[in-house]
Amino acid sequence: MNYSLSSETSKKSLTLWQTILKIWPLLVDEKKILFLALSFVITTSLLSLTAPRLIAYAIDTYILQKDYHGVLVYGAIILALYLTALVTSYFQTRLMGEVGQRVLYRLRNQIFEKLQSLPVAFFNQNKTGDLISRINNDTDKISEFFSRSVVQFFSSIFLMIGSAIFLLSLNFKLGLATLTPALVLLVITKVLSAWIKQRNLLSAKALGELSSEVQENINNFKVIIAFNRRDFFRRRFSEVNAHNYKSAVGAGIANISLTPVYGLASNFGQLIVLAYGISLISSQNFTIGLLISFLAYSNSFYNPLRQIAALWTSLQTALASWDRVSEILLLENDLPIIKDVAKRITDTVLEFKGVNFRYPDGKEVLHNVNLNLEKGKTYALVGPTGGGKTTTASLMSRLYDPTNGEVVLCGKDIKTYSAKERAEKIGFILQEPILFSGTVFDNILYANEEYKKFTVAELEEVIKQSGLQELINRFDKGLLTEISVGGEDISLGQKQLIAFIRAVLRKPEVLILDEATANIDTVTEQLLENILAKLPDQTTKIIIAHRLNTIENADEIFFVNSGNVIKAGSMKRAVEMLLHGNMKS
Ligand SMILES: Nc1ncnc2c1ncn2[C@@H]1O[C@H](COP(=O)(O)OP(=O)(O)OP(=O)(O)O)[C@@H](O)[C@H]1O
Ligand SMILES: [Mg+2]
Repeated sequence: MNYSLSSETSKKSLTLWQTILKIWPLLVDEKKILFLALSFVITTSLLSLTAPRLIAYAIDTYILQKDYHGVLVYGAIILALYLTALVTSYFQTRLMGEVGQRVLYRLRNQIFEKLQSLPVAFFNQNKTGDLISRINNDTDKISEFFSRSVVQFFSSIFLMIGSAIFLLSLNFKLGLATLTPALVLLVITKVLSAWIKQRNLLSAKALGELSSEVQENINNFKVIIAFNRRDFFRRRFSEVNAHNYKSAVGAGIANISLTPVYGLASNFGQLIVLAYGISLISSQNFTIGLLISFLAYSNSFYNPLRQIAALWTSLQTALASWDRVSEILLLENDLPIIKDVAKRITDTVLEFKGVNFRYPDGKEVLHNVNLNLEKGKTYALVGPTGGGKTTTASLMSRLYDPTNGEVVLCGKDIKTYSAKERAEKIGFILQEPILFSGTVFDNILYANEEYKKFTVAELEEVIKQSGLQELINRFDKGLLTEISVGGEDISLGQKQLIAFIRAVLRKPEVLILDEATANIDTVTEQLLENILAKLPDQTTKIIIAHRLNTIENADEIFFVNSGNVIKAGSMKRAVEMLLHGNMKS
């Protein structure tokens, strides 16, 4: 499966209904609150819609008759209406603000969980910076839309519909004339929204690229300085930054493009009301009060419309972000657990049956590999750089699935094991050990079920009994030595020691060491070998090494090159193969 995220998403614009359906999954759990907020929205709209009608009545009946008592009473009623509307609109805003924050929280959790469930291939194919940008920036835009815009959006729609109803029912012809400019707007909006969304998508993508660039720069800072490449990266950064700037400006222009058009339509609406309304009054078909309320309704139709235009772009931004986020959410791990099968009784702990493997978009790295590794034996994989040793080991621990063929672990297809079972059976010390920030103690206990509740003193005792004490002595403060993020402050050899202890203490059935001793001095290396020799008899060891002295004691040596994994037979033969790259065994 190809896991690379594209962001070349659909250019077509969605209807309001499709949009709501699309974001609905985010809101399902907020149904009650949304319903409550919506009822506040409706109340507020109704209150503000009633006011102009009352004003019209007050003008025509009391002001024109100079009945000041009536004016006062109506004035008080209208004031009460506005005050109530103020209260309800406070609650609607507050409720939606909370909804927005919760949506953001849930969305980030969902993405993070999804990321945790995706296979290694996904992380090979995507840049961390872009992923972080999706988790931070894109979710933020979505939440902003929910917390600020959704309420306004709906209240604007209600106000508009309500005003339109009042306009048409007060005087159908005049109402229709007032609304005509809005129809023109509808068409213009429809035409422009796809373009606006596209602009925003490009801008979000550029922001992701910027974030990737920053991340690569910071990660590789030392190399950049050592090779004096700062100028090069400065230039590259300023290019990416300029690109981001241009896309942001583009998006900004797109986002405000509708506003003036809407202003114009609103003015036309008012002009129509005045011209047509006055002509109606002069032919005795209309009253001054009605004209004033008509103006008010025309306003409360076009103002929300203008707001909707602004909100529409905020919606397009949110949708563009939602596309980028849902691209991650829709990915499925293509390393599923398959149905359990009966276990074959066998002495082999690991078996490759006709295994082929290629990396996505890469050439084939393994061709028809057949292997049989027996319980308790020590195997070595040797071969030239780039020959496929790490790849073979990755298939053994199911970091990837073979393109063809089967990997069998303890008599069952490796795909039938849950991630937990698999991790219990196989310990893999990676070529590039990965540590987490914390202490040596934390890192050793990482994912260790057996000792997870142990105190430092208790773990020390275990370490002593397993003969690992010497290794811990290589750290200034022993188990309590602090490790910074990424393990920058300890040596590579020390990292390998921690990875080694971590793997050994989990007592796996198969222990894979990928160049695990490449950066360790010969004395410590000897120590590791003694520890390996003392592991339970049934532990199968697979050692990948360039230094041949490390594999002297192997029961079997495999030579890995050009897609083949073949038995070397003897140490002497392995050396010959390495020297001549000879594939004929
Ligand atoms: N994540 C990856 N994506 C695509 N191709 C890869 C990836 N990792 C390795 N390869 C390719 O697979 C081939 C085998 O790589 P592998 O890491 O298995 O070699 P190796 O024998 O472990 O080498 P070394 O001795 O340097 O550790 C190489 O040609 C490499 O280019
Ligand atoms: Mg390797």
